[in-house]
Amino acid sequence: MTNGSRPQPAPGPIALDAQRIRSRLKRSKATLRVERKVDSTNTRLAALRAGGEAVDILLAEAQSAGRGRRGRRWISPPGGLYLSLYRRFSGPVRRLEALGLVAGLAGAAAIERCCGRRAGLKWPNDIQIDGRKVAGCLIDLGGRRDGASAIIGIGINVDFRGQTAPDQPWTDLATTTGQATDRNRLAAALIDQLAEDLDTFDDQGFAAMQARWARRDVLSECTVLASGPGETMIRGQARGVDESGRLLIQTPQGLRRLHGGEISLRTDS
Ligand code: BTN
Repeated sequence: MTNGSRPQPAPGPIALDAQRIRSRLKRSKATLRVERKVDSTNTRLAALRAGGEAVDILLAEAQSAGRGRRGRRWISPPGGLYLSLYRRFSGPVRRLEALGLVAGLAGAAAIERCCGRRAGLKWPNDIQIDGRKVAGCLIDLGGRRDGASAIIGIGINVDFRGQTAPDQPWTDLATTTGQATDRNRLAAALIDQLAEDLDTFDDQGFAAMQARWARRDVLSECTVLASGPGETMIRGQARGVDESGRLLIQTPQGLRRLHGGEISLRTDS
């Protein structure tokens, strides 16, 4: 610092701005809205739509009651990206079993494009960099007589430096890249990638994306322990996912296929 001027605090992140995000979109035609703080973007988007508002995508700067998988909280201070997207799909709701994996694929691709770091996927839908969780996805499914619908929620740790850690190894983009991430650019990349991947999934199913998943699969050939409600613990070697997005585990008793839902998974040595 020269001329005796006082050190200035580091500038805070640039605010999310619906207009800036829209101006960067190349593919998506979705209607989007940005709010400052909501309970949960998934919950709020469902309420907005139930109230007749034609919002397809909701982003918030922070969430007071962010929701994670398996009934967990998703701690959501300012400095993250919290996005929910509503979409209808052709066919019944059971066709959407792999939707969380598709959201993870889109999130990993968008992060990689914006940050230049390789992003891996831990089944069913954790996004990792260097073995640490950087983002997660939560799917709320809805059924209609004329087709299924879903709210796809994605939370990305963008800049949480100096904040307390959740209960698992995690990181944020600021730490892994050493640089500031433009959240408006990241949001636009994510929205466009979701538009493309959700179209592919709706038209062709998860089978069309299985190879992409395999290239990001961080569990492949690892020994894993899986448990779920009413399930005995399963131990075996992860062997990728099948065409429905189920995790394949080779056990001494044979090949097991696990559904995403309530399964808890950890690696074992
Ligand atoms: C997980 O890994 O447990 C899933 C976390 C999903 C968090 C996102 S943030 C945006 C959307 N709104 C929520 O309340 N949850 C999802």
